[in-house]
Amino acid sequence: NILIVDFGSQVTQLIARRVREAGVYSEVAPFQSAAEAFARLKPKGVILSGGPASVVDDNSPRAPQEIFDAGVPVLGICYGQQVMNTQLGGRVEKGMSGEFGLAFVQVDQTCALFDGLWQAGEKHQVWMSHGDHVAALAPGFAPVASSPGAPFAITADEARRFYGMQFHPEVVHTPHGAKLIANFARHVCGLAGDWTMAEFRSVKIAEIREQVGDRRVICGLSGGVDSAVAAVLIHEAIGEQLTCVFVDGGILRQGEAEQVVGLFRGAYNIPLVHVQAQDLFMDGLAGVTDPEAKRKFIGKTFIDVFEAEAKKIGGADFLAQGTLYPDVIESVSFTGGPSVTIKSHHNVGGLPERMNMKLVEPLRELFKDEVRALGRELGLPEVFVSRHPFPGPGLAIRIPGEVTRERCDILRKADAIYLEEIRNAGLYDTIWQAFAVLLPVRSVGVMGDGRTYDSVLALRAVTSVDGMTAEAFEFPGGFLPRVATRIINEVKGVNRVTYDYTSKPPGTIEWE
Ligand code: XMP
Repeated sequence: NILIVDFGSQVTQLIARRVREAGVYSEVAPFQSAAEAFARLKPKGVILSGGPASVVDDNSPRAPQEIFDAGVPVLGICYGQQVMNTQLGGRVEKGMSGEFGLAFVQVDQTCALFDGLWQAGEKHQVWMSHGDHVAALAPGFAPVASSPGAPFAITADEARRFYGMQFHPEVVHTPHGAKLIANFARHVCGLAGDWTMAEFRSVKIAEIREQVGDRRVICGLSGGVDSAVAAVLIHEAIGEQLTCVFVDGGILRQGEAEQVVGLFRGAYNIPLVHVQAQDLFMDGLAGVTDPEAKRKFIGKTFIDVFEAEAKKIGGADFLAQGTLYPDVIESVSFTGGPSVTIKSHHNVGGLPERMNMKLVEPLRELFKDEVRALGRELGLPEVFVSRHPFPGPGLAIRIPGEVTRERCDILRKADAIYLEEIRNAGLYDTIWQAFAVLLPVRSVGVMGDGRTYDSVLALRAVTSVDGMTAEAFEFPGGFLPRVATRIINEVKGVNRVTYDYTSKPPGTIEWE
């Protein structure tokens, strides 16, 4: 395994992900507890992450010295390179001007990180983001590659197997970065590269058991992939100590409740409380048209229902959530300044404080596609695992204007037809998310010999890697007209269908 020492970079978990992709297990430890993690894990290699501090400043973080004395390979990235160089006797300077963005490194000599990849004399694209740079090398190090702003863009001490990179190999803008990290993990550290999700599963199960002991955990299922995977994993760890609650507020997609209840009670035999709360939600949504007011009402009502159910089963000490890494980054990425709330995302936040519960979040380090891989590993059916993301406030934020039972029913039918056509065309898995939006606009139409005056529907489909940016999906010719015709013919209340071509940004994926 590999220990990743985190100096606070926004993208440390991407390093962990690249190491996992190379088939090697890694653990991330904040620099404050890195010494303890190093002693416990006895890793075959260490990666020092980037970070916002400047090694030149007093009291800036350092790596535990024993890491450099243990005879294991070390890769320092950005701040990690600078801290290693400083601790081993070199010098780092504050740059007159930093380098931010794309840069090219000139490879001056080869090193073990480049096996099968780079040769001396070549130039390669990398992603830089630094103010400081290494100015004098620590004894034993040789310069391997340079860039205009970083004379020591890559440094190596081949005898001790210490490597430093000023750029970020973990981000996709460094095209060969994943391979450089894989070379470090496999060639340099000599790890086999045979780690799989099966091992992640057993490591997490052990951790959950350790955290929870013999106490009780409650888990809210949204119908989505993340909470389902978290619940199945936790159930495998602690069995009947887990209770799942699934709240149906009338804002779910067609067939969703049956699918979730069937899967949990039937296939997995996991205790599940299925709360029918349609009246509560629909009555409360009456007259509410403001998007944030809808989101807040739904979030609060969800917590009320959840709390009442938790009390019925005698309470719980832990709340399980399917929080993913992008959720974690999004919530901390604006440190240091007031951030604007674009949308109040609905999860069961607020509940832990109110009920004095602790959180169990076994998926916190993973990205969506990795959660899907874990779901497959746990035996969740493919149709479930590959489902498009679905927001907590459900259909309510796909009905601009007032949400009523009738409008939910219309939208549910139209949405189901759209998704069925997408599946039939074999496009479902190439699209990040597709759904219909029922607009508060009516238009005039003609059906048979009669005039119609009905609602307009917008169809949306986007491609995305993580939901943070997105592009409108281009359907093959003929597809959208076919869907439009089916919806208008089969769904009473809709007489016009449009397609939404907005990317994110400037749009968002959902309409509200
Ligand atoms: P936006 O609309 O902000 O959505 O571009 C980005 C992704 O997040 C999903 N989304 C939510 N997911 N609770 C969730 O669990 C929410 O309140 C919520 N709002 C948006 C959205 O479907 C897309 O995948």
